[in-house]
Amino acid sequence: MQAETKNIKEKFKAIDIHILRNVTRDISFDIYLKISDDNMAHIFSKTTGLDYKRLAQYIHKGVKELYIHVEDESAYKNFISVTVDSIINDPSATTEKKIATLLNMTEQNMAELFTQLNIEEDTATKAQIVVRNYVHLMSESPKTLAIILQLVSHGEYLYYHSIAVAIFSMLLAKASGQFKQKFLETIGMGGFLHDIGCTQIPKETLNSPRELTVAQWKEIRTHPKLGLNMIEQTPILSDEVRYIVYQHHEKMDGQGYPNGLLGSVIYYPAKIVSIADAFSALISNRPFRAAYTVPQAIKIIQKENSHFDKDLVKLLSPLFLKTH
Ligand SMILES: [Fe+2]
Repeated sequence: MQAETKNIKEKFKAIDIHILRNVTRDISFDIYLKISDDNMAHIFSKTTGLDYKRLAQYIHKGVKELYIHVEDESAYKNFISVTVDSIINDPSATTEKKIATLLNMTEQNMAELFTQLNIEEDTATKAQIVVRNYVHLMSESPKTLAIILQLVSHGEYLYYHSIAVAIFSMLLAKASGQFKQKFLETIGMGGFLHDIGCTQIPKETLNSPRELTVAQWKEIRTHPKLGLNMIEQTPILSDEVRYIVYQHHEKMDGQGYPNGLLGSVIYYPAKIVSIADAFSALISNRPFRAAYTVPQAIKIIQKENSHFDKDLVKLLSPLFLKTH
């Protein structure tokens, strides 16, 4: 047993688990978790890459170090020198590469956000960087929106929906004449975090393929308040972001929740996120129905005109039909 233990010590090198939060998914070496002094579990492989959700779960459980084979040390050093930031800020990188990198980063961030009961400052800061990068990328390349639109109906709903709502909200804000970076970032953050409270709702309710029971609806309607609770202790997030999370299901005619506020008192950015939310949900595949096309989704929102801000609804067609 002792010889075996020594063997493990010589064969593996410890790496800081947090470093893996700032790199891309593709790894050129295998990663192990120490189960005991003589037992290593192979957790991430070079063929399948990092799984951010599992990585976030290990961090959440208090794991501080992971391991690589000693012979992979130089590959590891090369790998960590190419961080997400360096790709995003590289003028010679293509838009596709930047978007793929940013989506990777977003996915990591989401994985962390979804395992925290109270959103940590560090994770919120990273979310801000993610949103800021989307703002930059959108102004840098008009292709960004088209690529994101294609992605929305794929992948795990809450992930892509959150990204899509952040981006659609920022686009709507811009189209409504709001160009200030700070405002766009607030909207983006609100859009990104709007459904964070859903992580506290049972999956069977969230992904139910059947019509929800009265009790399940009651449960769903708690998610704005749950979301607010989760970000209340995160100083880096502004009150504006909190208003958006809390009010994104309020409707102009007072039929929304949690407070049935009328349009005149609903916070303007929450009205923007509310439309982006409805639009993203409609163009996504859901367990209970297939995705609507972009023109169908716009028509549905136009028909529900008592729910949404009329001037904002008018912006949907010019914004999304031309890119489709
Ligand atoms: Fe929601």
